[in-house]
Amino acid sequence: MAKLLIVDDEKSIRENLVTFFELKGHQVHEAESGAQAISILSQNRFAAVLTDFRMAEMNGLELLKEVKRIDPNALVILMTAYGTVENAVAAMKAGAYDYVTKPFTLEQIQAVVDRALEFSRVQMENRTLRDTIDEVPLLESRSPAMQRLLETARQAAESDATILLTGESGTGKNVLARQIHRWSGRRDHPFVVVNCTTLSEELLESELFGHIRGAFTGAVKDKTGRLEAADGGTVFLDEIADLSLALQTKFLRFVQEQSFERVGGDRTIQVDTRIIVASNRDLAAEVAARHFRDDLYYRLNVIMLRLPPLRERLEDIPALTDLILKSASIRNRRPKMPLSSGAELVIRNYHWPGNVRELRNCLERAIVLARGREIVPEDLPDTLFRSELPAQTNTPGKLEDLEREHIMRVLADSSTLEEAAATLGINPTTLWRKRRRFQID
Ligand SMILES: Nc1ncnc2c1ncn2[C@@H]1O[C@H](COP(=O)(O)OP(=O)(O)OP(=O)(O)O)[C@@H](O)[C@H]1O
Ligand SMILES: [Mg+2]
Repeated sequence: MAKLLIVDDEKSIRENLVTFFELKGHQVHEAESGAQAISILSQNRFAAVLTDFRMAEMNGLELLKEVKRIDPNALVILMTAYGTVENAVAAMKAGAYDYVTKPFTLEQIQAVVDRALEFSRVQMENRTLRDTIDEVPLLESRSPAMQRLLETARQAAESDATILLTGESGTGKNVLARQIHRWSGRRDHPFVVVNCTTLSEELLESELFGHIRGAFTGAVKDKTGRLEAADGGTVFLDEIADLSLALQTKFLRFVQEQSFERVGGDRTIQVDTRIIVASNRDLAAEVAARHFRDDLYYRLNVIMLRLPPLRERLEDIPALTDLILKSASIRNRRPKMPLSSGAELVIRNYHWPGNVRELRNCLERAIVLARGREIVPEDLPDTLFRSELPAQTNTPGKLEDLEREHIMRVLADSSTLEEAAATLGINPTTLWRKRRRFQID
């Protein structure tokens, strides 16, 4: 499901397209003029905008330029009359994703839209990937707790000791893991990330340890595992609490001996890797609940670094904001804009359940939406204004209830799971898991 905007001054065409794409499960908005489209675009983000070329007042090409200014990531598809190839060429030059010539069948336009949505998905993935790689993180702090943590992390980086990173989602565990690698003597060797949540147990096992040809159906050739790929460098196991008990046993041996066999293989492979693991769940509680092996927990918990939630280091918000605005404006090709004092106040008073990631998403969005010289409260998402904790009841509320309530509120305000996850500053898989755990439909 995606959000689409359809712009055409001819009512029947517009209605046909709206009905058709709604039936395909998309969320469709419509506009009868360029001006109306722009006003809708200032409130909503769309994966794709389909616009007629010839319209009274503002034509499709002019609208295209305006859309690109508001949201550089939106993909624009132009619908042009047959025989006006010059228009189409001009549109492609101005950054249109594609064009279709009228008359077209619904199947034809659907094919173009499907391709655009696939492109947009890949583009988004690349963006996330690039962000995590190019990011220059904030490595100093005004918060005493964070200062101590950074100091310990720097010292620990020099040793080969296993490090356990804990902290709420979005507090910067991935960022810090990569930084520790950069600080260490292993910096010129690989930094390999394995996320234990996203893969099935079988896939994860072969991802970690590799496999030999014929080890299972589909294993058509030998495969090097990530632990082997990290030889000489650092391996970062993210969301370690999601490792199954069977894999925990196998991983424990690796932690103890730095050796393992590929799935289906009998040759023992010896490597030299630094291990960092992270979890946003309380591992000690997982051990108590017998979901996590205690011997593995003790092996991993040599140096434990707990990243404080953003609400416990509010003094870092100005520096983080500055850093994020600087890189976000470059990335989105927008002028560098300061926060208005009103926006600053809103940001200071919010409790940031999604931590630094949420702050970053809010600012990134604001940079793209802001029309003036500075970012004003209107450029910030609504969630920031409704962040007061629920009214006090006689029984003190459990943290879990607050979390559940907040998630439900954001879900209700979002059109897709991805959008809700972005607002919450967690990744969609995490949101999906939380939804299941809290039994939210
Ligand atoms: N020190 C920092 N400087 C700048 N940006 C940061 C910093 N820490 C975190 N961020 C921002 O917050 C985002 C989330 O950080 P990260 O992915 O490391 O969180 P996490 O704790 O691993 O979250 P999760 O538990 O959801 O995986 C980063 O992509 C980055 O944009
Ligand atoms: Mg993470």
